[in-house]
Amino acid sequence: MKAAPDVTWDSLDWRALDRLRAGFLDGQAAQGPYWKSPHDLAAYDLTYGERIGWKWDAVLRELRLRSWAPAPASAGLVVLDWGCGSGIAGRRVIAAIGPEKVSRLLLWDHSPLAVAYAVERARSAFPGLTVDAASGPSTASDVLVVSHVLNEIPPAQLSDFRSLLTATRSLLWVEPGTHEVSRSLQQWREHLLADGAHLVAPCTHQGSCGLLRAGEERHWCHHFAPPPVGVHADRHWVRFAQRAGIDLRSLPYAFVIAERTASSAPFPAGAARLIGRPEHFKPYARTLSCDAAGVTEVTLPRRTLPDLYKHLERNRGPLLYRWERQDNTVTAGESLIPLGSS
Ligand SMILES: C[S@@+](CC[C@H](N)C(=O)[O-])C[C@H]1O[C@@H](n2cnc3c(N)ncnc32)[C@H](O)[C@@H]1O
Repeated sequence: MKAAPDVTWDSLDWRALDRLRAGFLDGQAAQGPYWKSPHDLAAYDLTYGERIGWKWDAVLRELRLRSWAPAPASAGLVVLDWGCGSGIAGRRVIAAIGPEKVSRLLLWDHSPLAVAYAVERARSAFPGLTVDAASGPSTASDVLVVSHVLNEIPPAQLSDFRSLLTATRSLLWVEPGTHEVSRSLQQWREHLLADGAHLVAPCTHQGSCGLLRAGEERHWCHHFAPPPVGVHADRHWVRFAQRAGIDLRSLPYAFVIAERTASSAPFPAGAARLIGRPEHFKPYARTLSCDAAGVTEVTLPRRTLPDLYKHLERNRGPLLYRWERQDNTVTAGESLIPLGSS
């Protein structure tokens, strides 16, 4: 059997997807490898994996808009996709960095089936690139890609995992935007800072996370990626969403981009990242705004700031702003990324 069978919407194994979903929901996924065949991986890659790819697209777009790229390596970058599954994250990252800047893509997963599938898919996506299975979980890399794996790592492995994060030069890490996983990632962000990393995103500052302060427990650092245009009208995606119990319009994610040596352009003083989705009411918009001083709920009156109110309504991210405020009401503000930039 080919490690990466061709699967289309018409040949998709829906029952395999149902089984995977049940495992993700009931915690079985944290009990050890769960991929049963290359067909599982192919079905995942076409659906859940592709959806994760849309989150990566949003993150990689932000990095491009901010002119950030992983620190180059003279012999080319070694990229490691850790917990690769079908390898969607590694492929998205290589496409964004440019395969010509990469000397090797390494894939690691505790499921050998997953590694074999991801290797074959990456080789066919980037024929000129050297793609191999990593020799073990602690393989060194210049760029470490981690995607949707945090809640599956057993506690006994977390200390080694932390060493891996610390050793890489550039870390690109995306997780689901649920309350539980996002708050766990907030803690990992603190570990990264303690281990000397420099944060590129999502934070506009290098201080400790405002959402970890007492009283902020109900909030979590998450953002929304825009799904591809037309996906809601695509009968295959609609069927998948119904079966998987997913809202196609909503793609919440949490992420951390960090580097060992600071290279990203610093944010201007007062720069804020908005958390979650701003709410629009007739007289005002309300949003949770995070900056070096902490996290606050801010209000934008529509009457005095009609353009900013509209901007916030149309902005699909990244939601980076700088406000002038009186108490928690915005009196003036600017977006740090022009609307419509791509
Ligand atoms: C939800 S899937 C995500 C796959 C892929 N990273 C993505 O974003 O689509 C989680 C993956 O992590 C792998 N995994 C879970 N625990 C692991 C561990 N302790 N070491 C290595 N891989 C692990 C699983 O086998 C699975 O392929």
